[in-house]
Amino acid sequence: MTVLFDFNPPVIAHRGASAYAPENTMIAFVKAAQLGIKWIEFDVMQAACGEPIIFHDDLLDRTTNRRGDVNHYPYVDLRSLDAGSWFDTRFAGEKIPALKEVMEFLQTYKMFANVEIKSLTGKEAPLVKRVLAEMVAYPEMQNNILYSSFSVDALYLLRKNSPNCSLGLLLHEWEPSWEKICAELNCVSVHVNHEIMTLHAAEKIKSLGKKLLCYTVNDLARALELYSWGVDAVFSDVPDKIVAGLNKNASRSCIG
Ligand code: G3P
Ligand code: MG
Repeated sequence: MTVLFDFNPPVIAHRGASAYAPENTMIAFVKAAQLGIKWIEFDVMQAACGEPIIFHDDLLDRTTNRRGDVNHYPYVDLRSLDAGSWFDTRFAGEKIPALKEVMEFLQTYKMFANVEIKSLTGKEAPLVKRVLAEMVAYPEMQNNILYSSFSVDALYLLRKNSPNCSLGLLLHEWEPSWEKICAELNCVSVHVNHEIMTLHAAEKIKSLGKKLLCYTVNDLARALELYSWGVDAVFSDVPDKIVAGLNKNASRSCIG
């Protein structure tokens, strides 16, 4: 079964509304909802105890008040950290969320998510299995979740363990066999670093019937160019500004 995702408005709040609140925290996801954004993106890693957690870096240093490897700490310790003050003291005490907390939120707000699997090399299987096991508790959300990963191994594990899940191939650089991987995995989407995107590549991806998403786009002019190439949605830290600019541009085109 292929889920026909709709990206309306055509933006995905990257790590939540991460220009306005600390990335990958509940407050960043709530902010995205408040801005009228339907899709959020977040990164999933694994705590030492196996708990899937929402976090981007391998190290705690940049976005918490602790140093060291994220995966060295059980979630009970990670949960006690301050994941907000680094961004602004207004967000002091913000927690590193567990995946299940975000799923409850998505279900309540009827939102959609791109769940990016950030597995360490060689540790893909435990993370993928645990994420899929947790998702069993949210059957009605199955059509609201789009998985992606830079790790092709993680994507193959997702497909093997969840034949019906929606997958997106995530490309930082052009992988020569991207089309073959996409076909083998029956990906519904391709998520491309906007810096390598071209009109030609966009036309190719769209001709394959895939949704095309580009990250991370905070510049309105670039977003408009990408939309004109057929890009279905952009990941943005300022999703509201992209939507406002897009609407303004559309009304100007109507008048003109
Ligand atoms: O999934 C799109 C984007 O989030 C990939 O890059 O490093 O922000 O996770 P990164
Ligand atoms: Mg990400």
